[in-house]
Amino acid sequence: MLRFLVIHFYELLRSKFKVPTGRSIIKTGGHIIKMYNDANECAYECGVLLEIGLSNPIIFKVPKVFKLLKIRAHSALIMEYVAGRNLDNYILDFLLHKNSDAVRIFYRLGRAIRELHNLNLSGLHNSRLPSSYHELKQGIVELSKKLVILKIVDNNLFSAILDVLKKADAVDKIFLPRNLHGELYFTHILVQDNTIVLFDFHNTQRGASYFDLAMLSISLYGSLTFPPQALKRFTPLIEALLKGYYGKDLNAEIIKSMKLAELYIALREILGYARTLHAKVSLITSFVATLKIKRLKVAIKKVILPKLIS
Ligand SMILES: Nc1ncnc2c1ncn2[C@@H]1O[C@H](COP(=O)(O)OP(=O)(O)OP(=O)(O)O)[C@@H](O)[C@H]1O
Ligand SMILES: [Mg+2]
Repeated sequence: MLRFLVIHFYELLRSKFKVPTGRSIIKTGGHIIKMYNDANECAYECGVLLEIGLSNPIIFKVPKVFKLLKIRAHSALIMEYVAGRNLDNYILDFLLHKNSDAVRIFYRLGRAIRELHNLNLSGLHNSRLPSSYHELKQGIVELSKKLVILKIVDNNLFSAILDVLKKADAVDKIFLPRNLHGELYFTHILVQDNTIVLFDFHNTQRGASYFDLAMLSISLYGSLTFPPQALKRFTPLIEALLKGYYGKDLNAEIIKSMKLAELYIALREILGYARTLHAKVSLITSFVATLKIKRLKVAIKKVILPKLIS
């Protein structure tokens, strides 16, 4: 009951106060209609979904696309409605009732992401993500400086980040170029029987493999669906994800390297919310952005930096 209320309250908050994205979704019968202001974005997502479908992945699936419609300047995709259990259901069961199904699902999700990353897909956009340790470190410093100027990161946090960077390192493995989902938030993942279902491929790109894995962690840390004290309890889920992705190659260096990637993405997300605060948005959208910034800063201080100095 509590799980049901939490999820539905948060869904309401998300749908009412989300920043406009130029895309919207309607469910009709057994179909989903996804509408886009940008026809190119629609064609791109359509192409990616069709190509993934043709590759016949085993561990995950994507919705089948039935039709691409063009209505004057707008476009829409008509696709199958996929029913299943949302990932947040498993996570809340894990947090509230210690149900370990979520650990098994995160392991499987790691394998699914690996399968997506290694499919033979053509025509993907190239990402502009940092693609070496040097670039990642530089990205972290640049984002931190911007957030200091915006008074979102204070001098203490800035020095703590710089201190960590002096000793930190990252293994080359996390920078290998792969097919990235590009927005791998837990809200874009569903489980149908034993199959992982992935949604929303408008931002799919070719880039450094850390991005999807670290983005999933950051979506957990920043989400208002979960209680703030849950932060440290995500660790077994994230490690199961990495175990699924790297298999027997997983080691302490990879886990630590991924924490550096999490730091970069957390700062990037915070900057995004900071820009939302500066744009003309409703009071409640500003409130949600403020809460998310707070959550992500706590995650940096309590989960990410301590792992990097340990
Ligand atoms: N084919 C589908 N079957 C079932 N549910 C779907 C399907 N496509 C999308 N959804 C649900 O709708 C949500 C929003 O879809 P999607 O992310 O593709 O649109 P979006 O406009 O990018 O939304 P957002 O900005 O909220 O991410 C997904 O997180 C998923 O829960
Ligand atoms: Mg989406």
